[in-house]
Amino acid sequence: MRGVSPSKVLKRARAAAGAVRDIGAGQLLGRAPPLPPVGLRFMGEDDARFLETGDQLVHDMRRWAGVTDHSVVVDVGSGYGRFAHGLLRGGFRGEYYGFDILPRHVTWCRSHLTRFARPRVRFGHLDVENARYNPRGTIRAEEVVFPLASRSVDAILLASVFTHMYEDHVLRYLSEARRILRVGGRVMASFFLLEPRWAAAHAAGDTAYPMDHARSPHCRYADAKDPLFAIGYDLEWLLARVEEQGLRLAEPPRLGRWAGRPGAETWQDFLILER
Ligand SMILES: C[S@@+](CC[C@H](N)C(=O)[O-])C[C@H]1O[C@@H](n2cnc3c(N)ncnc32)[C@H](O)[C@@H]1O
Repeated sequence: MRGVSPSKVLKRARAAAGAVRDIGAGQLLGRAPPLPPVGLRFMGEDDARFLETGDQLVHDMRRWAGVTDHSVVVDVGSGYGRFAHGLLRGGFRGEYYGFDILPRHVTWCRSHLTRFARPRVRFGHLDVENARYNPRGTIRAEEVVFPLASRSVDAILLASVFTHMYEDHVLRYLSEARRILRVGGRVMASFFLLEPRWAAAHAAGDTAYPMDHARSPHCRYADAKDPLFAIGYDLEWLLARVEEQGLRLAEPPRLGRWAGRPGAETWQDFLILER
Protein backbone atom coordinates (compact mmCIF):
# COMPACT_ATOMS: atom_id res chain seq x y z
CA MET A 1 0.00 0.00 0.00
CA ARG A 2 1.37 3.38 -0.96
CA GLY A 3 1.88 5.78 1.92
CA VAL A 4 0.37 9.30 1.94
CA SER A 5 2.35 12.09 3.56
CA PRO A 6 0.75 13.81 6.61
CA SER A 7 0.75 17.15 4.77
CA LYS A 8 -1.25 15.60 1.88
CA VAL A 9 -3.75 14.14 4.33
CA LEU A 10 -4.13 17.56 5.92
CA LYS A 11 -4.58 19.21 2.51
CA ARG A 12 -7.26 16.69 1.51
CA ALA A 13 -9.08 17.09 4.82
CA ARG A 14 -9.07 20.87 4.39
CA ALA A 15 -10.40 20.60 0.83
CA ALA A 16 -13.18 18.27 1.97
CA ALA A 17 -14.11 20.60 4.84
CA GLY A 18 -14.17 23.51 2.37
CA ALA A 19 -16.52 21.63 0.06
CA VAL A 20 -18.88 20.82 2.92
CA ARG A 21 -18.83 24.47 4.00
CA ASP A 22 -19.60 25.51 0.44
CA ILE A 23 -22.80 23.51 0.36
CA GLY A 24 -23.85 25.33 3.54
CA ALA A 25 -23.69 22.22 5.67
CA GLY A 26 -22.86 23.91 8.98
CA GLN A 27 -25.60 21.85 10.54
CA LEU A 28 -24.00 18.61 9.35
CA LEU A 29 -20.81 19.53 11.17
CA GLY A 30 -22.69 20.69 14.25
CA ARG A 31 -21.59 24.29 13.65
CA ALA A 32 -25.03 25.92 13.18
CA PRO A 33 -26.84 27.06 16.32
CA PRO A 34 -29.97 25.08 17.21
CA LEU A 35 -33.43 26.59 16.84
CA PRO A 36 -35.31 27.59 19.99
CA PRO A 37 -38.04 25.18 21.12
CA VAL A 38 -41.52 26.08 19.91
CA GLY A 39 -42.62 26.53 23.54
CA LEU A 40 -40.35 29.59 23.91
CA ARG A 41 -41.53 31.27 20.71
CA PHE A 42 -44.22 33.55 22.14
CA MET A 43 -44.59 35.25 18.74
CA GLY A 44 -45.71 31.89 17.37
CA GLU A 45 -43.59 31.66 14.23
CA ASP A 46 -42.55 28.40 12.56
CA ASP A 47 -38.90 27.61 11.77
CA ALA A 48 -38.97 29.26 8.35
CA ARG A 49 -40.40 32.48 9.75
CA PHE A 50 -37.93 32.45 12.67
CA LEU A 51 -35.02 32.26 10.25
CA GLU A 52 -36.50 34.80 7.83
CA THR A 53 -37.09 37.35 10.61
CA GLY A 54 -33.56 36.94 11.94
CA ASP A 55 -32.09 37.37 8.45
CA GLN A 56 -34.19 40.49 7.91
CA LEU A 57 -33.01 42.02 11.21
CA VAL A 58 -29.39 41.29 10.33
CA HIS A 59 -29.83 42.75 6.85
CA ASP A 60 -31.46 45.89 8.23
CA MET A 61 -28.90 46.37 11.00
CA ARG A 62 -26.15 46.17 8.39
CA ARG A 63 -27.98 48.47 5.99
CA TRP A 64 -29.28 51.06 8.44
CA ALA A 65 -27.17 50.84 11.58
CA GLY A 66 -23.81 50.21 9.91
CA VAL A 67 -23.21 46.80 11.51
CA THR A 68 -20.24 44.88 10.11
CA ASP A 69 -18.87 41.42 10.94
CA HIS A 70 -16.66 43.06 13.57
CA SER A 71 -19.06 45.47 15.28
CA VAL A 72 -19.98 45.64 18.95
CA VAL A 73 -23.74 45.15 18.95
CA VAL A 74 -26.38 45.29 21.70
CA ASP A 75 -29.82 43.68 21.38
CA VAL A 76 -32.22 45.14 23.94
CA GLY A 77 -35.12 42.74 24.56
CA SER A 78 -33.34 39.85 22.88
CA GLY A 79 -36.26 37.42 23.40
CA TYR A 80 -35.46 33.93 22.13
CA GLY A 81 -32.53 35.04 20.03
CA ARG A 82 -33.92 35.76 16.57
CA PHE A 83 -31.33 38.45 15.82
CA ALA A 84 -28.40 36.67 17.50
CA HIS A 85 -29.23 33.48 15.63
CA GLY A 86 -29.27 35.41 12.36
CA LEU A 87 -25.91 37.03 13.15
CA LEU A 88 -24.34 33.67 13.93
CA ARG A 89 -25.73 32.08 10.76
CA GLY A 90 -24.31 35.00 8.78
CA GLY A 91 -20.76 34.55 10.04
CA PHE A 92 -20.65 37.51 12.45
CA ARG A 93 -17.22 37.77 14.14
CA GLY A 94 -17.81 40.81 16.37
CA GLU A 95 -19.20 41.13 19.90
CA TYR A 96 -22.88 40.73 20.70
CA TYR A 97 -24.66 41.36 24.02
CA GLY A 98 -28.39 40.71 24.28
CA PHE A 99 -30.46 41.20 27.39
CA ASP A 100 -34.04 40.50 28.31
CA ILE A 101 -36.37 40.40 31.29
CA LEU A 102 -37.55 36.80 30.69
CA PRO A 103 -35.23 34.42 32.57
CA ARG A 104 -36.22 31.23 30.69
CA HIS A 105 -35.46 32.84 27.35
CA VAL A 106 -32.14 34.23 28.53
CA THR A 107 -31.19 30.81 29.92
CA TRP A 108 -31.95 29.12 26.60
CA CYS A 109 -29.95 31.72 24.65
CA ARG A 110 -27.01 31.33 27.02
CA SER A 111 -27.05 27.55 26.86
CA HIS A 112 -27.43 27.30 23.11
CA LEU A 113 -26.11 30.49 21.50
CA THR A 114 -23.41 31.66 23.91
CA ARG A 115 -22.08 28.11 24.11
CA PHE A 116 -21.88 28.16 20.35
CA ALA A 117 -19.80 31.36 20.15
CA ARG A 118 -18.25 31.97 23.56
CA PRO A 119 -17.16 34.57 24.59
CA ARG A 120 -18.22 36.92 21.78
CA VAL A 121 -21.95 36.29 22.13
CA ARG A 122 -23.40 36.90 25.60
CA PHE A 123 -26.83 37.30 27.16
CA GLY A 124 -27.90 39.03 30.36
CA HIS A 125 -31.04 38.83 32.47
CA LEU A 126 -32.39 42.06 34.02
CA ASP A 127 -35.45 41.64 36.23
CA VAL A 128 -37.10 44.81 34.94
CA GLU A 129 -40.82 45.34 35.50
CA ASN A 130 -43.04 45.34 32.41
CA ALA A 131 -46.82 45.09 32.90
CA ARG A 132 -47.18 42.66 29.99
CA TYR A 133 -44.00 40.56 30.07
CA ASN A 134 -42.77 40.70 33.67
CA PRO A 135 -45.30 42.36 36.00
CA ARG A 136 -43.45 41.25 39.15
CA GLY A 137 -40.06 42.54 38.03
CA THR A 138 -37.99 44.05 40.85
CA ILE A 139 -36.24 46.81 38.84
CA ARG A 140 -38.22 49.88 37.80
CA ALA A 141 -37.79 50.45 34.07
CA GLU A 142 -37.23 54.19 34.58
CA GLU A 143 -34.21 53.36 36.76
CA VAL A 144 -32.55 50.72 34.59
CA VAL A 145 -28.83 51.02 33.96
CA PHE A 146 -27.70 48.93 30.98
CA PRO A 147 -24.79 46.73 32.16
CA LEU A 148 -22.41 48.21 29.60
CA ALA A 149 -19.70 50.86 29.65
CA SER A 150 -20.34 54.33 28.26
CA ARG A 151 -19.42 54.84 24.60
CA SER A 152 -18.55 51.17 24.14
CA VAL A 153 -21.08 50.08 21.52
CA ASP A 154 -21.40 50.53 17.73
CA ALA A 155 -25.07 49.68 17.21
CA ILE A 156 -28.18 48.89 19.24
CA LEU A 157 -31.31 47.01 18.19
CA LEU A 158 -34.70 47.38 19.88
CA ALA A 159 -36.97 45.20 17.75
CA SER A 160 -40.58 45.15 18.91
CA VAL A 161 -39.63 46.40 22.38
CA PHE A 162 -40.76 50.06 22.46
CA THR A 163 -44.04 48.79 20.96
CA HIS A 164 -44.63 47.20 24.39
CA MET A 165 -43.29 49.88 26.75
CA TYR A 166 -44.76 52.92 28.52
CA GLU A 167 -43.32 56.31 27.69
CA ASP A 168 -41.19 56.90 30.83
CA HIS A 169 -39.55 53.58 30.17
CA VAL A 170 -38.96 54.40 26.50
CA LEU A 171 -37.26 57.65 27.50
CA ARG A 172 -35.03 55.92 30.04
CA TYR A 173 -34.02 53.33 27.47
CA LEU A 174 -33.22 56.02 24.90
CA SER A 175 -31.06 57.79 27.46
CA GLU A 176 -29.21 54.57 28.28
CA ALA A 177 -28.84 53.79 24.58
CA ARG A 178 -27.16 57.14 24.07
CA ARG A 179 -24.85 56.60 27.05
CA ILE A 180 -23.48 53.27 25.81
CA LEU A 181 -23.20 54.28 22.13
CA ARG A 182 -19.93 55.56 20.76
CA VAL A 183 -20.18 58.87 18.91
CA GLY A 184 -21.59 58.10 15.45
CA GLY A 185 -23.11 54.82 16.69
CA ARG A 186 -26.69 54.02 15.73
CA VAL A 187 -29.91 52.68 17.22
CA MET A 188 -32.48 50.85 15.12
CA ALA A 189 -35.76 50.78 17.05
CA SER A 190 -39.25 49.78 16.04
CA PHE A 191 -42.35 51.70 17.07
CA PHE A 192 -45.99 52.12 16.19
CA LEU A 193 -45.73 55.71 15.02
CA LEU A 194 -48.76 57.98 15.15
CA GLU A 195 -48.35 60.38 12.25
CA PRO A 196 -50.53 61.79 9.44
CA ARG A 197 -50.51 58.66 7.24
CA TRP A 198 -51.32 56.52 10.27
CA ALA A 199 -54.21 58.88 11.13
CA ALA A 200 -55.70 58.46 7.65
CA ALA A 201 -55.35 54.67 7.80
CA HIS A 202 -56.83 54.62 11.33
CA ALA A 203 -59.84 56.71 10.23
CA ALA A 204 -60.37 54.28 7.32
CA GLY A 205 -60.19 51.27 9.66
CA ASP A 206 -57.10 50.11 7.81
CA THR A 207 -54.62 49.32 10.61
CA ALA A 208 -53.75 45.93 12.12
CA TYR A 209 -53.99 47.35 15.65
CA PRO A 210 -56.70 50.02 15.90
CA MET A 211 -55.22 52.43 18.45
CA ASP A 212 -58.63 53.40 19.82
CA HIS A 213 -57.54 54.26 23.39
CA ALA A 214 -55.66 57.41 24.39
CA ARG A 215 -53.26 57.28 27.35
CA SER A 216 -52.10 60.88 26.82
CA PRO A 217 -52.21 63.37 23.92
CA HIS A 218 -49.19 61.64 22.38
CA CYS A 219 -49.76 57.99 23.28
CA ARG A 220 -52.44 55.52 22.15
CA TYR A 221 -52.97 51.79 22.48
CA ALA A 222 -55.12 49.08 20.92
CA ASP A 223 -56.29 46.78 23.73
CA ALA A 224 -58.17 48.39 26.63
CA LYS A 225 -57.28 45.50 28.97
CA ASP A 226 -53.64 45.14 27.91
CA PRO A 227 -52.21 48.52 26.85
CA LEU A 228 -48.76 47.03 26.28
CA PHE A 229 -50.10 44.56 23.71
CA ALA A 230 -49.52 47.34 21.14
CA ILE A 231 -48.74 50.92 22.18
CA GLY A 232 -47.92 53.81 19.87
CA TYR A 233 -46.38 57.28 20.12
CA ASP A 234 -46.91 60.49 18.20
CA LEU A 235 -43.94 60.88 15.84
CA GLU A 236 -43.38 64.61 16.40
CA TRP A 237 -43.55 64.24 20.17
CA LEU A 238 -41.18 61.29 20.04
CA LEU A 239 -38.61 63.05 17.86
CA ALA A 240 -38.53 66.00 20.29
CA ARG A 241 -37.84 63.54 23.14
CA VAL A 242 -35.17 61.78 21.06
CA GLU A 243 -33.34 65.08 20.67
CA GLU A 244 -33.66 65.82 24.39
CA GLN A 245 -31.95 62.50 25.05
CA GLY A 246 -28.99 63.54 22.88
CA LEU A 247 -29.79 61.44 19.83
CA ARG A 248 -30.78 62.54 16.33
CA LEU A 249 -32.87 61.08 13.56
CA ALA A 250 -30.33 59.73 11.06
CA GLU A 251 -32.66 58.51 8.30
CA PRO A 252 -36.26 59.25 7.33
CA PRO A 253 -38.70 57.14 9.39
CA ARG A 254 -39.32 53.73 7.80
CA LEU A 255 -43.06 53.27 7.98
CA GLY A 256 -44.36 49.70 8.13
CA ARG A 257 -47.23 47.60 6.84
CA TRP A 258 -49.12 47.47 10.16
CA ALA A 259 -50.85 50.74 9.29
CA GLY A 260 -52.19 50.03 5.82
CA ARG A 261 -49.04 50.35 3.69
CA PRO A 262 -48.98 47.04 1.81
CA GLY A 263 -45.75 47.70 -0.09
CA ALA A 264 -43.65 48.68 2.94
CA GLU A 265 -40.48 46.69 3.70
CA THR A 266 -41.22 46.10 7.39
CA TRP A 267 -44.26 45.26 9.49
CA GLN A 268 -43.61 47.76 12.31
CA ASP A 269 -42.29 51.31 11.86
CA PHE A 270 -38.56 51.87 12.42
CA LEU A 271 -36.50 54.86 13.49
CA ILE A 272 -32.77 55.03 12.88
CA LEU A 273 -31.15 57.23 15.52
CA GLU A 274 -27.56 58.34 15.84
CA ARG A 275 -25.41 59.63 18.66
C1 LIG B 1 -42.09 41.16 20.99
S1 LIG B 1 -40.69 40.61 21.84
C2 LIG B 1 -39.37 40.90 20.71
C3 LIG B 1 -38.16 40.08 21.00
C4 LIG B 1 -36.97 40.31 20.08
N1 LIG B 1 -36.54 41.69 20.10
C5 LIG B 1 -37.25 39.86 18.67
O1 LIG B 1 -37.54 40.72 17.81
O2 LIG B 1 -37.23 38.67 18.44
C6 LIG B 1 -40.44 41.86 23.07
C7 LIG B 1 -39.29 41.52 24.00
O3 LIG B 1 -38.99 42.68 24.77
C8 LIG B 1 -38.70 42.25 26.08
N2 LIG B 1 -38.87 43.39 27.00
C9 LIG B 1 -40.01 43.97 27.40
N3 LIG B 1 -39.76 44.98 28.26
C10 LIG B 1 -38.43 45.03 28.38
C11 LIG B 1 -37.54 45.84 29.12
N4 LIG B 1 -37.99 46.80 29.93
N5 LIG B 1 -36.22 45.64 29.01
C12 LIG B 1 -35.73 44.66 28.18
N6 LIG B 1 -36.52 43.84 27.48
C13 LIG B 1 -37.85 44.03 27.57
C14 LIG B 1 -39.69 41.12 26.31
O4 LIG B 1 -39.34 40.31 27.38
C15 LIG B 1 -39.63 40.41 24.98
O5 LIG B 1 -38.63 39.43 24.92
